[in-house]
Amino acid sequence: MNDNAAYAPAPDRYDAMPYDRVGRSGLKLPRISLGLWNNFGHDRPLDAQRAIVRRAFDRGITHFDLANNYGPPPGSAEENFGRILSSDLRAHRDELIISSKAGYDMWPGPYGEWGSRKYVFASLDQSLGRLGLDYVDVFYSHRFDPETPIEETMGALATAVQSGRALYAGVSNYSPEQTQAAHKALAAHGIPLVIHQPRYNMFDRTVEDGLLPVLDELGMGSIVYSPLAQGLLTDRYASGVPAGSRAAEGRWISADNLDETYRQRASALSEIADARGQSLSQLALSWVLRHPQVTSALIGASSVAQLDANLGALEAAELSPDEIAAIEPHAVHGTGGR
Ligand SMILES: NC(=O)c1ccc[n+]([C@@H]2O[C@H](COP(=O)([O-])OP(=O)(O)OC[C@H]3O[C@@H](n4cnc5c(N)ncnc54)[C@H](OP(=O)(O)O)[C@@H]3O)[C@@H](O)[C@H]2O)c1
Repeated sequence: MNDNAAYAPAPDRYDAMPYDRVGRSGLKLPRISLGLWNNFGHDRPLDAQRAIVRRAFDRGITHFDLANNYGPPPGSAEENFGRILSSDLRAHRDELIISSKAGYDMWPGPYGEWGSRKYVFASLDQSLGRLGLDYVDVFYSHRFDPETPIEETMGALATAVQSGRALYAGVSNYSPEQTQAAHKALAAHGIPLVIHQPRYNMFDRTVEDGLLPVLDELGMGSIVYSPLAQGLLTDRYASGVPAGSRAAEGRWISADNLDETYRQRASALSEIADARGQSLSQLALSWVLRHPQVTSALIGASSVAQLDANLGALEAAELSPDEIAAIEPHAVHGTGGR
């Protein structure tokens, strides 16, 4: 693609994508959102990144999810997205929901990770600098800090919102009890905790262990990450480990995840998908989106073709109770090491 070619977003970009309300907030998110954890670091050509982001926006994906540490190297995904924003999407800032997070290690010393006010604030300002933005739409505490009082971490998120650096506050990877405590601590500042970002897929069912009713009770929504189990719930590994795949790189998943149990379950799930006229990845997305508490499925993609294939999930009929029951024996927590 010509780097300098002017980008005009598709005029029909809002015609097909459904947008759902996040809990009881005013915020709406597309049913499928795009995350930039992998494939958007300095290890990937900017043109390939730009093509995926343009295609996403053309198809109604208004939400792009980042974090301070996405790359590699850490920080580079925010830098690259900042470049794409400035070259392609600057005029469309008010159509976009851009999120970032702080929690994992970013710089050396005692103030470079977790949930202190010192770290959370410095990290948000660094993220804004890399993105070239005055504010992010959603700012998350990326993980619960067992050593910092929750009142301090949430106080930092409250100041981020009150100072205009963030519009909405969220938590990620918090347990149901930690979520309740965070909600209460933020409410003391008059700021609602709007959204939770947990991992959820057919092979990691932790959220079914108490989080969903807590989201209802608190009026929160959720955006679930790795709904495709990083590619394990797609046909990416149907016949081996292709070069350039996440398992080939071995950073987050590896060939060790592709054992016989995994293969049997993935193949049984593919048959169910086939019977519905879907691909495995589309079935995996329909499955996480079946809960009313799941506002959006947060996918990753290393190509425009993957993105397009996954968006096909939105055309499928909802899963019937019989189909959900048929999936159940194969959607086993812990498959593929997740
Ligand atoms: N809050 C947190 O702690 C946290 C943690 C992890 C992720 N996240 C967020 O969630 C986002 C998504 O996570 P994820 O990347 O793990 O999501 P995912 O959707 O489960 O996995 C994405 C990967 O699956 C493969 N894939 C996707 N569609 C495919 C298709 N149609 N056919 C074949 N393969 C396909 C690709 O792998 P290849 O790259 O091998 O092609 C792609 O990179 C992240 O970018 C980030 O924003 C948040």
